Parts: sequence; structure tokens; C-alpha cells
Amino acid sequence: MVYTDLSYDETTKAGFARAMFDHLDNGTTDMAPGILEIDPRIYTDPELAARERSELFGHIPIIAAHSTELPGRNDFVTVQLPNNEVVLVRQADGSVRGFVNTCRHRGARLVPDEKGSKRTFSCRYHGWAYGADGGLRSIADESTFGMVDRSCMGLLEVPVEERHGFVWVVDSAADGRKIDIEAWLGQEFDDSLAAMEMDEYTCYTVGNFDVDINWKVLMDAFLDGYHITSTHAGTVAPYFYNNAQSWQPMGRHGRMVTARKSIDSVRGGAPAEVPIDRHITVAHFLMPNMSVLRQPDHLEVLNFVPAPGTAVGTRMQIRLLTREPAVTDEQKARWDKNWNILMAVLRDEDLVVNEGLQRAVSNTDLGPLLFGRNEIANQHFHRWMARAFADPQKWG
Ligand code: FES
Ligand SMILES: [Fe+2]
Repeated sequence: MVYTDLSYDETTKAGFARAMFDHLDNGTTDMAPGILEIDPRIYTDPELAARERSELFGHIPIIAAHSTELPGRNDFVTVQLPNNEVVLVRQADGSVRGFVNTCRHRGARLVPDEKGSKRTFSCRYHGWAYGADGGLRSIADESTFGMVDRSCMGLLEVPVEERHGFVWVVDSAADGRKIDIEAWLGQEFDDSLAAMEMDEYTCYTVGNFDVDINWKVLMDAFLDGYHITSTHAGTVAPYFYNNAQSWQPMGRHGRMVTARKSIDSVRGGAPAEVPIDRHITVAHFLMPNMSVLRQPDHLEVLNFVPAPGTAVGTRMQIRLLTREPAVTDEQKARWDKNWNILMAVLRDEDLVVNEGLQRAVSNTDLGPLLFGRNEIANQHFHRWMARAFADPQKWG
């Protein structure tokens, strides 16, 4: 395995080692002050789902692509976001712009391809054509159509910014929406995320999976280090410690460190001296719907994108990022194997449990759900969501 060392300073790394050694030696984990009760309707209520899309996802930056998915001028990708399907296009000046994928004439889906490279986007319906900058270039048989001010009929644009190797979007073309990722992440979390060096990685694979599960159920599954032994007995449970996590909230967001069982080979050593990097997973949870999981030799980035118009639909977008681009058959075989393991864990285990959960929380009669003191990151998530809805300025 080719390891990449964590680029945190030595004090931070020693802190990770000390925290994990303490928890494993004592059978402990970081804990919230009390148990949190949650109303299960947050996973099923269509009214709340509509508010989440308009009041939350229409205002905050979410990851829409890795920069290496559109490396060159005129390269594009189409991405389904909670409110809009968006086309991201690399511009002549190297920046990326994002447009709602709807023809301004009569509403046809302008770009049907998932990705590609084009100087002009021609609508298949009647042949209107748009430039890579979203401007309306031509109207078919214009003399018969009537007067249209082309300069006002470009594609509707959403705010886009590149940071940490990703293209981020605020999923709204409404007037006055802005994007400021650094401010959204906050200094401490932004610094911690920078140490993941995601801009040094290449996106090896993107998988899109449409599931009938509320997006918060899936976010909960990744915030939770308590289900590994039980849910993942058939795959990764033998390799990871369960229910022993070091959780550090950083403003809205948070970082969690968990241990692989291989950490036993360095337990007992001085925290500042052991090579801890290859024995831990560092997870960054980006509120409200994204996770960056740093494995010792690759990154997994998960995005739980609420499907438009439903409380129970989510597009799970999963990316596997590698430090070196996979060129040889041997490298590709290795990452394919990693991907297949990840898929087995998700498809055969997490999704099975969570499809069942979604069905079960749709029952008419059920009491409040409980998040234990050990489910501290889940508590952070649900408390933040509740606060954010009580005061929209919290995410604006
Ligand atoms: S809908 Fe696109 S050209 Fe008519
Ligand atoms: Fe899981």
C-alpha cells in the first residue's frame, strides 16, 4: 500500500494518537452531555423537505465536482443538485461557471451528457445555441421568432467557486446569492481541510446512486462510528475499531478520528513518536450533507444530495480520489478493488439497513428516536439543523 503522510503538524498528529490510545485502553469514546431525542418525521415530512431545499440548499456552498473532472477549457460536467441540474463549464480564463441546465426558449434539457467538452451548447429541440459562458449565441430562424434581447436570455447562472480541489456551488440562480467557501467553513475547519491536500489528488471514479432514503438518514450513517461491528460484520468490521472516536467540533462542521485495528501494532508507543497516519481514518463532516474520509492511501468524498421534490429521495454521489493519477493497469486494478469494497460496504450493508430504516420511520405510530451520548457527531448534526432552521442567518 502506498501511504501518504498526514500533513498536520506533529502536535496535532500526536494528539490523534493520544486520543485514540486513551479511548482504546479505557474502552471509552468522546461523548455528548446527554441523550438527544429526535422526531422521526424529520426523515419523512415533505414540508420540511421543501424548506430544506429552498431555505438551506439554495444558500450554502456544496461540492459539485472535483476540479480534475473538468481540467481543460470548455470541459463540462452536469450535476443534479437539490434545486437544479447544473452544468459546470471550465472557462477560457481557467475559472468554472455554473448554469441551470434548462434552455431559455421552452425549457428543454440543454445538455444531456454527463460530461464532455464543447464550445457551444445547442438545444436539440429547436436549435438555439449557447456559448460556454452561458450567453445565448443564436436563435434558429430568428427573423420569424420575434424580437428577443439575446443579452438577457443567457442561461441562468449559479454562484461557483473552486477551493480545496473542488468546485462548489450555491444551488440557486436567484438575484444576490453569493458564494464564500472560506467564510462558510470557518478558519479552523478550512485549515484542517486544507491539510487533506485534496487539490493534490485526482478523481479516479464518481458513482451516482439514486436511493429512496432521506439524505439525513445517510448523513447519520456516516457520522456514526457505533454501527461498524453490527452492520459491517460481513466486510470491514474486522479491520476497524467500533465506538471509539475522537470528535472535534469546528464551528458548524467537525472532524472525527477513528482507528483501524492495525493501531494495535503501535499502541504503547509514545504518541509523539509513533507513525499514527496509517492506522487512523480522519473524517471531515461538512454540514449539512458531505463527508471527506481520509484513508491512509486515498480519499473518499461523499455527498448526499437531496433529490428535488421528494422527502425520501437522495442521490448519493461518491468519489474516490487518489494521490497519483491511475495510469497503469496495475494501478487501475488496485483502485477498482478499493472501489468494489466500498460498494460492497455501502450496497450490501449500509443501504440495506437504511432502506429498512426509511421504511420503518414511515410507520404511523412511533415514538421519538434516540441519539446516545456516544453518537456525539450525529447530535452535533441534528442540533445544528434545528438551530439553523430556527434562525436562517446561521447559514446565510
Ligand atoms: S427549447 Fe431549446 S430551442 Fe426550443
Ligand atoms: Fe456504515
